Amino acid sequence: MSAKVLNGTELAGKVKAELKEKVEELKQKGINTGLAVIIVGDDPASRVYVNHKKNDCAEIGIKSFEYALPASTSEDELLELIETLNNDNSVNGILVQLPIPKHINEDRVIAAINPLKDADCFHPVNVGNLMIGRPQFLPCTPAGVVELLEANGIQIAGKNCVVVGRSNIVGKPQAILLLAKNATVTICHSKTADIAAVCRSADILVVAIGKAEFIKPEYVKPGAVVVDVGVSRGADGKLVGDVQFQTVSEIASAITKVTGGVGPMTRAMLMKNTVKATLLQNN
Ligand code: GUN
Repeated sequence: MSAKVLNGTELAGKVKAELKEKVEELKQKGINTGLAVIIVGDDPASRVYVNHKKNDCAEIGIKSFEYALPASTSEDELLELIETLNNDNSVNGILVQLPIPKHINEDRVIAAINPLKDADCFHPVNVGNLMIGRPQFLPCTPAGVVELLEANGIQIAGKNCVVVGRSNIVGKPQAILLLAKNATVTICHSKTADIAAVCRSADILVVAIGKAEFIKPEYVKPGAVVVDVGVSRGADGKLVGDVQFQTVSEIASAITKVTGGVGPMTRAMLMKNTVKATLLQNN
């Protein structure tokens, strides 16, 4: 293996240590920081993610409030809870873990969150501000990817960046953040013609499609940086990313692993947004 492994766990640890100091400073001024996490239904992966987020909060000194609602919860009930949290001064950030059950309209739920408490940066107002280059919050996974690249001395400006995937959570905002860093950005998706050739043009390849080991060596330019956002279960039940790690790490110059890569950085950015929200609400 020749690629350098970009260690998200280590960097997230540093980010969280800085945030812990900031949260402590705020406490000295009588300002507490709180994050409300809402989970609807019993998706096992969502449960794991929510537990991780609660642990991160505890580590930093952020109070977490968990609302675990049954899958039968109505849209009105969820909207009511969000409204209560919007008006609760001890809650600075609100996060609704996605996916939510299909009978609930996700767009309406996201739009109901007070944009000043939108720790995920999913609200249309925050997405719009990001689009015009004046973000109050940054989208967690894309911002985590950028911090991981920059902390490892990987220059983004002037590079050809290819983002595979066009979701609202990762692909689209990732492209906007890389563009804001002066990269030349291409987004690929399921209808892209000759996707392997487009990927091979990338100096930095960010993959977020949720298809196990989709990216193989023929998709990667030798020496490229490869960031794997995907998490799925392989046939043997083990976690795998969107990138075939063993083979691609032979030709990439730097690469992330499916665990200890982007995931911890996403959560560190969530903590950062929560602290930012507290500052915005108290100035
Ligand atoms: N589901 C998968 N990723 C995310 C995320 O970053 N935030 C929320 N709220 N739900 C998710």
